[in-house]
Amino acid sequence: IEGVYEAVDASPEEFPDVVKRLADEGWQGVNVTIPHKTAAAQLADHRTEAVDAFGASNLLLFRDGKIIADNTDWQGFQRCLSALPDPAYSKAVVLGAGGAAAPIVHALLDYHDVVVVNRTAEKAKALASRFGDHVRTAPWEKRSDILAGAEVLVNTTSLGMAGQPPLDIDLEPMRSKSLVVDIVYDPLSTPLLKKAREKGFQTAHGLTMLVYQAVPSFRAFTGTEPPDPEIILRKLTEERQ
Ligand code: ATR
Repeated sequence: IEGVYEAVDASPEEFPDVVKRLADEGWQGVNVTIPHKTAAAQLADHRTEAVDAFGASNLLLFRDGKIIADNTDWQGFQRCLSALPDPAYSKAVVLGAGGAAAPIVHALLDYHDVVVVNRTAEKAKALASRFGDHVRTAPWEKRSDILAGAEVLVNTTSLGMAGQPPLDIDLEPMRSKSLVVDIVYDPLSTPLLKKAREKGFQTAHGLTMLVYQAVPSFRAFTGTEPPDPEIILRKLTEERQ
């Protein structure tokens, strides 16, 4: 492929002008990361359904003089769920209600019961209110009890990251063969994921999401399929272990 994919720095003040300049220069589009995802959704001329649902974009496409905002973070997460049974009967618990939690809750749209649990209850309620009746909240103190009958647990808080205290939670109430996801990739194996593996649960880390959010972006930029994401994921995982 004849093309260039490179990193561009932008402060929040510069961000809208940088995007317009890149569009004028003829780039196909940009991936957008923290802290610009909300601003990216706002400056676009058109937004996909997902972007409208939770107000954040990680992919801007420049097409026919217009800026289109898409979000592939939620698709990256959905790949982690592919090995699980029918979501129509399943319960999922999401810990945290910051920017990283919104695409995760969106990806759980087919789940029967989704519970958002956050230290600051108001933030959990504000996030849940953006979605349908299948999303509810529970107090942070109840984070272990609420796992009863759940098949999926996702940690989007900073607990367990390098330099942060571990997440204090009891996985016992979860169903057997559950999936536990920690969206960080430093470290790759958080105390939570270690605990989950000891219980025989399936696990996924942040690199899975990172690689799979890149697949639709690659397609949109180049019009071709990327190399096998599983091979890329394995290689990245090995490099970090
Ligand atoms: P954002 O993605 O919006 O920048 P953040 O400030 O990085 O969010 O925090 C990410 C998540 O980690 C939040 O849900 C935060 O909980 P609060 O909303 O109550 O701040 C959670 N978090 C961070 N430290 C925590 C801790 N010590 N105990 C529980 N949750 C914590």
